[in-house]
Amino acid sequence: MVIVVGVTGGIAAYKVVHLVRLFIADGHEVHVVPTDDALRFVGLPTWEAISRHPVTTSVHDDVPRVRHVALGQKADLVVVAPATANTIASMAAGLADDLLGTTLLATTAPVLIAPAMHTEMWHHAATRANVATLRSRGVHLVGPDDGPLTGGDSGPGRMSEPEAIHATALDLLRPRELQHDLAGLTFAVSAGGTREPIDPVRFIGNRSSGRQGVALAVAAADRGARVLLAAANIEADVLREADRPDIEITRAGSAAELGTVMRRAAAEADVVIMAAAVADYRVAEASEQKLTKESGPPVLTLVENEDILAGLARQRRPGQTVVGFAAETATGDELLERGRRKRRRKGVDLLAINEVGWTKGFEAAENRLLVLGADDEVVTETAGSKREVADRLLDAVRNARGVE
Ligand code: CTP
Repeated sequence: MVIVVGVTGGIAAYKVVHLVRLFIADGHEVHVVPTDDALRFVGLPTWEAISRHPVTTSVHDDVPRVRHVALGQKADLVVVAPATANTIASMAAGLADDLLGTTLLATTAPVLIAPAMHTEMWHHAATRANVATLRSRGVHLVGPDDGPLTGGDSGPGRMSEPEAIHATALDLLRPRELQHDLAGLTFAVSAGGTREPIDPVRFIGNRSSGRQGVALAVAAADRGARVLLAAANIEADVLREADRPDIEITRAGSAAELGTVMRRAAAEADVVIMAAAVADYRVAEASEQKLTKESGPPVLTLVENEDILAGLARQRRPGQTVVGFAAETATGDELLERGRRKRRRKGVDLLAINEVGWTKGFEAAENRLLVLGADDEVVTETAGSKREVADRLLDAVRNARGVE
């Protein structure tokens, strides 16, 4: 699991070194995001050494990897310890003036804070209101404890001990760990539709938007998999969904390019899913010059493209699961029969039959899938949003691979 530990400017920061060690000892990936003030208590080299990752406070470092949102997006849990009165106020106001602020706004992971401040500050109406706001947004609190505070006084405001914060954090991670049923697996997924050039400005294409393939990639990544996504001509706003560190996107234009990208991805994948709509034919020789009306209606000679999926299934690595899609306009029994023939022809472990037509399948937000297993029986029948359908197909993949 990926844990972001936000450290803010309180004396208790030194105890958080131990908290980070506890997370590291569990095998978690820990990224420490201190505020500038926190570094007055514990220096940057300590955080880097203990977390084994580079540490920065600024949104201006590591800009190419959009670190200010990337950390929040990939986090499974964000812990802020110690959380000072000032930090709690910033969080309540949604301020994003440093890397911790942007990370907290970018994350959808659970957030746990361990407040630490003097008793008066903890009891102040402003802090009470801010804490209530955070709670109402689902932020979890651990502590503060009642006990000796810096300066000799005593009362509620003392940061919980690292062991207590650690235990609460693990409770919050548990449901997420259960959802990570595809962790440790690499998925090679193709999405979109190929374009076969006719001349420099024209192509033979299809109506696949790439939404179903992208939904599969995102669902697999959400469930802990590493995803290699081969994107064939997908519009930017659809592909943006897959813009995250655990999905590696490679673009492909034609069927030949997609074949090359997918073979490379499949070489390191446990699961291969061909969701892209691949042109069966290409123009034998695309014209170097734009075809003009002056030469009259063109006669296009088509030659067959390789069947990428069948090739991947033939060359599958031991233990690799290969999944195909079948876009069919047939219905009822004929739909199933065509699907069965296609599954056998391609030699895949699972075939997701997708009813398509003028108004269904392509470009639509909803989808309906029938999934055939290796014995040609329907193992899953599902309808819903492309994400819901993606999750059910991934369940079928997990079941086909058996419990690991
Ligand atoms: N596919 C492929 N390479 C091709 C054609 C299709 O890898 N040249 C893959 C698709 O990505 C999909 C599956 O094969 O996963 C089935 O695609 P589909 O277009 O439904 O089937 P076809 O093989 O084109 O067969 P038909 O034209 O008879 O429907």
